[in-house]
Amino acid sequence: MQRLLNKTALIIGGSSGIGSSTVERFLAEGAKVITTGSTPESVKRTQSELGDAVSVLEFNALALDACQQLAQTVSVRFGALDILVLNAGVSDWRPLEQWDQAGYDRVFDINVKAPFFLMQALLPHLKPSASVVVTGSNAAHSGFAGGSVYGASKAALALMARTWAAELLPRGIRVNIVSPGPTQTPLFNKLGIPAEHFEAAVQNVKAGIPLGRMGEPSEIAAAITFLASSESAFATGTDLVIDGGVTRLQAA
Ligand SMILES: NC(=O)c1ccc[n+]([C@@H]2O[C@H](COP(=O)([O-])OP(=O)(O)OC[C@H]3O[C@@H](n4cnc5c(N)ncnc54)[C@H](OP(=O)(O)O)[C@@H]3O)[C@@H](O)[C@H]2O)c1
Repeated sequence: MQRLLNKTALIIGGSSGIGSSTVERFLAEGAKVITTGSTPESVKRTQSELGDAVSVLEFNALALDACQQLAQTVSVRFGALDILVLNAGVSDWRPLEQWDQAGYDRVFDINVKAPFFLMQALLPHLKPSASVVVTGSNAAHSGFAGGSVYGASKAALALMARTWAAELLPRGIRVNIVSPGPTQTPLFNKLGIPAEHFEAAVQNVKAGIPLGRMGEPSEIAAAITFLASSESAFATGTDLVIDGGVTRLQAA
């Protein structure tokens, strides 16, 4: 059974990792998929990897005008949306004393401000029964050393998403959150970990996961697909934590 047959879905940040896996999953489930990359190079690479089955548009979360532009392009070219996945994000982990304003602003601009104004811009173009899924993080659910800014950005995003869920009840639009734990994506290569410490850092992360391994992007995509589809019709404002037990279990 194709759970997203004939649904039009926009996945923000489908050029890599969890978003890319979600694009593949949505296609397999029968959706018509539009996605984004943040630069012309990323758009070109993603379009050539995914082929004509997907439309890849440019969206840079650091240029706030891009929210209105993307909404306009999507509505003119593809019409109203059944599914919106706000997935693009960046991660940055530092101890408190190493943060500066530019680093803080970058995380909040991409992870909080852009999804907020993008949601506002796309709202007129969501169908009455649309499903919105937001990629949060398990970092919003616990106090992980080094995660103050990243975790706070995802906590802010999750709270906004729950608020949208309440505001959009009269329109029949559901909004839910998926909060992944450590997942094997290119995000880890963007954290600035020196090559000689990379493997030790990965082992350290794995050691803190009760299931003993990192998640696969496809496992997060499966959760996003569930929340995007009508199988989750009774869920709105919920936050599905998929993190190998990190935030809920204490291993023996
Ligand atoms: N991997 C994990 O362990 C993990 C855990 C918890 C939550 N998450 C969350 O899951 C989501 C996806 O992460 P991922 O692991 O798949 O990371 P990823 O492989 O680095 O992919 C990040 C995505 O976000 C897009 N993006 C980054 N900066 C952007 C910007 N300025 N404007 C527009 N798009 C931008 C990227 O587009 P380009 O490639 O075109 O730049 C890419 O599509 C993020 O929200 C992340 O915070 C990940």
